[in-house]
Amino acid sequence: MIDPMVFKTSRELARSKLDKDNAMNSFGYWIDVENKWERYDKPAELIDFLSIHRTHAHKLNEFIADAGELSPEESEWMKQYIQLYTNVSRLLATTGNTGDLRHDLLETLVSWRLIKQYYPESCNILDFGAGAARYGVMSYLDHPNTTYTALDATLAAYTLQNMVLSYLDILQGDESLFEYLDYEALGRPLPDLASSSFHRTHIPTWVAKDLLVPKTQDVVVLSHVHGELSKEDFLRMVDFIDISLNDEGIVFVRSELTWGDTRDYWNTVDLHGLELVEELGKLGLLPIHTESLGGYLTTVFAKQDSQHFKNACAKEQTDECVLWELKHSREITLYAARQYTRKHLGLLAKSGQPALIVGNDNPLFEQFDGQSVAQNSSENAVLNETALGQLRQGDSELSELVAGNDHVVVLSEQCRSYANAMKIEADLSQHYDCQFAIRRCYPFYGVLILSKQYLLETDSHFDSPIFHINDLK
Ligand SMILES: C[S@@+](CC[C@H](N)C(=O)[O-])C[C@H]1O[C@@H](n2cnc3c(N)ncnc32)[C@H](O)[C@@H]1O
Repeated sequence: MIDPMVFKTSRELARSKLDKDNAMNSFGYWIDVENKWERYDKPAELIDFLSIHRTHAHKLNEFIADAGELSPEESEWMKQYIQLYTNVSRLLATTGNTGDLRHDLLETLVSWRLIKQYYPESCNILDFGAGAARYGVMSYLDHPNTTYTALDATLAAYTLQNMVLSYLDILQGDESLFEYLDYEALGRPLPDLASSSFHRTHIPTWVAKDLLVPKTQDVVVLSHVHGELSKEDFLRMVDFIDISLNDEGIVFVRSELTWGDTRDYWNTVDLHGLELVEELGKLGLLPIHTESLGGYLTTVFAKQDSQHFKNACAKEQTDECVLWELKHSREITLYAARQYTRKHLGLLAKSGQPALIVGNDNPLFEQFDGQSVAQNSSENAVLNETALGQLRQGDSELSELVAGNDHVVVLSEQCRSYANAMKIEADLSQHYDCQFAIRRCYPFYGVLILSKQYLLETDSHFDSPIFHINDLK
């Protein structure tokens, strides 16, 4: 159990060793301008953080579509995952349930599918900015002997991680958690982590440099975190990768690599704007896989001499660029956008379902031959940009056209911002009385695909919110 005073004292001590500016920018959640992750009045308030990815609820249906049907093994993990977080929420307070856990669950299951392609068996995982320790839970469910190290710097997250990891410790029954702050608070000598056999290790970032065991980690997870840090903490994170990743290991990054504008985030702070791709490149880590999953980019990096890199090279290339030759985040994002469009237009063409394709001011329109998707069914239609304007204004002839289609694909410069794409969707829904079940939006390339129905099977467990294990029964 982490006492807030113990946590804060330890952090203040670490900050006091830095110069003033560095101290101000270190060991805190840079974009948490409301300080939500730093204060809680009662344990019940921490329950909300167990379903933190509800903040991506606008992408939930896309995620459900991308996850498809769960395997029997994944269904079992799903039940255990929900039971586990239901239990943790009960430990925090008997009065409250978690929020809808579907998004966090999907984040975990789908990311794990990809990590397992590189490490089908147990592996050593380092999770920087570990949130509710989802990867610790998932690795425990799949391979109890996996080692998992969580690093964090905020009071709320660190407290929760301690609780989740302690709970796993009890479940596994082998007292195999190392909690740094417990040792520090009692002034106990630290064990030698290199020769210890802890399954789980929990370390605040301010002591990580000294405690991380060099070259032990197979997977470093950076999930929804690398863009949210101060420059100082971002560079520390890169340093931790440098220290701890073994030469055959991968860095698994979930979240966009580029940020439209780094100035005045929430009108308050500037983002660091450093390129993760460039910084990892300096460590010899190159991108070997990237794709948009559940609305967020997911990129895997590996060292050039590693087997993972060689395996990636041996795969057939489907793009005009070679992924690992790309040196800038933006190029990788555009690469992923092309793959995304190719994949989803391909699925659409294969389905034979009627689709309306709107575009022509966007290079993708020609590249992916919007016409060929449209020709797949006699009911399809291809409209140009002007028509998109007419559609949005409620043109009656065009209105009928839309009404007959199950999917509307807009490949347009007008969709280059998420907000704009949402406006286009709202207009189309309102004027033509379409309820689109799924929105796929890739603003970096101006892609918006609206569908009245899923193209592939989805898992019925996700049809309604999951607040509690009872919601799965
Ligand atoms: C958006 S949450 C993502 C949590 C988790 N990675 C996930 O995907 O569920 C960001 C996480 O980064 C942590 N974090 C924020 N600033 C940090 C810093 N300077 N050093 C380490 N962790 C930090 C937060 O406490 C939180 O756990």
